[in-house]
Amino acid sequence: MTEQRKILVTSALPYANGPIHLGHLVEYIQTDIWVRFQKQRGHNCTYVCADDAHGTPIMLKADQMGIEPKELIDQVSAEHQRDFSGFMVGFDNYYSTHSEENQHFASLIYTSLRDKGHIAQKTITQAYDPEKEMFLPDRFVKGDCPKCGAEDQYGDSCEKCGATYSPVELKNAYSAVSGAKPIEKESEHYFFKLGDFEAFLRNWVDNHVQEHMIHKLNEWFESGLQNWDISRDAPYWGFEIPDAPGKYFYVWLDAPIGYMASFKNWCDKNGVDFDEYWNESSNTELYHFIGKDIAYFHTLFWPAMLEGAGFRKPNGVFCHGFLTVEGQKMSKSRGTFIMAETYLKHLRPEYLRYYFAAKLGSGIDDIDLNLEDFRMRVNADLVNKVVNIASRCAGFIKKKFDGELASELAVPALYEEAVAAGELIADAYENREFSRAMREIMAIADKANQYIDAAEPWVLAKQEGKEQEVQDCCSMGINLFRVIITYLSPILPQVAEDVKAFLNVDDLAWDAIQTPLLSHKINKFKPLMQRVEEDKVNAMIEDSKATLAALAAAAPAVVDNKPSNAQSELDKEPIADEITFDDFAKIDLRVARIAKAEHVDGAKKLLQLTLDLGGETRNVFAGIKSAYAPEDLEGKLTVMVANLAPRKMKFGMSEGMVLAAGPGGEDLWILEPHEGAQPGMRIK
Ligand code: MSP
Ligand code: ZN
Repeated sequence: MTEQRKILVTSALPYANGPIHLGHLVEYIQTDIWVRFQKQRGHNCTYVCADDAHGTPIMLKADQMGIEPKELIDQVSAEHQRDFSGFMVGFDNYYSTHSEENQHFASLIYTSLRDKGHIAQKTITQAYDPEKEMFLPDRFVKGDCPKCGAEDQYGDSCEKCGATYSPVELKNAYSAVSGAKPIEKESEHYFFKLGDFEAFLRNWVDNHVQEHMIHKLNEWFESGLQNWDISRDAPYWGFEIPDAPGKYFYVWLDAPIGYMASFKNWCDKNGVDFDEYWNESSNTELYHFIGKDIAYFHTLFWPAMLEGAGFRKPNGVFCHGFLTVEGQKMSKSRGTFIMAETYLKHLRPEYLRYYFAAKLGSGIDDIDLNLEDFRMRVNADLVNKVVNIASRCAGFIKKKFDGELASELAVPALYEEAVAAGELIADAYENREFSRAMREIMAIADKANQYIDAAEPWVLAKQEGKEQEVQDCCSMGINLFRVIITYLSPILPQVAEDVKAFLNVDDLAWDAIQTPLLSHKINKFKPLMQRVEEDKVNAMIEDSKATLAALAAAAPAVVDNKPSNAQSELDKEPIADEITFDDFAKIDLRVARIAKAEHVDGAKKLLQLTLDLGGETRNVFAGIKSAYAPEDLEGKLTVMVANLAPRKMKFGMSEGMVLAAGPGGEDLWILEPHEGAQPGMRIK
């Protein structure tokens, strides 16, 4: 056995203003599987989490409900913990950022940064609600998009046209809190000087973040590390900043510190040395599991804060992608915004744990829950393949041999092969390549089933003098089953418990399978898992629609704390409404050569392009100035919508549109066809 590692693991802290849904569970299930695996391998692994309990949205929601924020966060925390435990997410400690420990560490880290000169002060102007007497976060100012005129857009970006802007640019702006017209007001803010840590971060990121994220991080470095505004004015639900009356820590300052606070709380209850884990020179390991939308906070701000305040840095920040349902962003109206609680009313948690495991890799790709595939996959793999091994063998052992397994293995080589595969499987788990682990495990299950198919114990059982063969082959099957369930136990904790009882063993430790169960008494086999029924899945969807409709009627929409700027929101644009093939066929997409690209006097975002369509030229104004200089574009091939009705703009007529991808700002890429393509070619 390898040396025992001391590992501290966290998942992101869910906001205390909304319910846990299946999207969240991608993360908590992924983390829980990894933690259970480490524990099963005999390591000292601790998994902590907490509710993220501060910030404007929580303050306002409590206000609307007519209760104190504390009451709201207590209520939500209880619901979150109920849901997590329903999905068998086994935290060692679940705490809250609204805690004494967190206030202690937030103040400690802040004062340490301040005393080393990493905090700056600056007066800024912000939207202010004169009625509610509070500054308004961008998301709480609404109005008409300054670019396309769409009504009811948020203060930072337009959901219709994708433009990003500041709240003061909105037309007919109003406060989402009171409806009042916001005014502009000055206030002094505190900033964390992230740029002080650029050299440290460039080096740290290279060794501690997945390859898939490094590209994104490089873009962030290139656009320059900005000072980070960490203060908010009263009234604010959070911790007051030391020596700064009326100023509060922005929720994202104390949120990651909540990892430390939750761990400290656990250490105090369990007599563990906190400093051993958080000292700058700690030999323990620290990993954060997070969604890619919050990478900026975890791969830049957080390590920089730790570095500045003299604490250890994480060994790894593991980002995952987003959950889609049926290929689309979870939707309340389609019933695919499924809350944990709703799922659990209809389906067993381990189905989803297995399905996610079968789809999860170590990268940041989104993962899709396709309900048909979900049902088929779980039934085929877990019910028909894995559980079937035991149900085919157990009865004979119980009936004919009084529950006793044979004294020898019928095919030692097959058993050894299954045990040897454990190394590959462990490696896959360790590297969070769960889908690879599941494939390897299912390959063993296939072999076990093939073995039983060939041995035909049900035929032997009817023949005279074949008793020994029946016992041998069924015992072989049961032993292979034990190996498989050992490998699956991080995924299926309840099944693993039931199998322990069935096999009459104390645990399913990873190394125990080195010794097969011989001349060992097992207990009566009880069905371990039912099939996923289609009507249950349908009922869950219907239930989701109904629950959300009821919730929407009762409560205002939940707004979260994430700035929706390009740096923190990756790939989150919703898929638009379905169109027919005929709709699609109407769009005439053509390859175009950018013959000329020029600045437009007085236009902040536009470039004027002359596009060559192979004989015909078009004049197009494109909002890509934030991402391209004219000289980068000339000569390039791109794709344009050639039959868009010409539009008269302030600077002239625009005769088409070029296609680009990305959230906006610098993160925008025009589409470039392969070189063989010729201007004017139709895109099909
Ligand atoms: N409170 C912050 C995290 C603070 S960590 C110091 C937050 N909360 S959250 O509730 O919005 O999200 C919690 C975690 O769930 C995040 O890592 C987020 O990426 C993840 N997910 C939320 N919705 C998700 C999907 N639809 N799919 C996959 N993960 C998702 O962010
Ligand atoms: Zn717009």
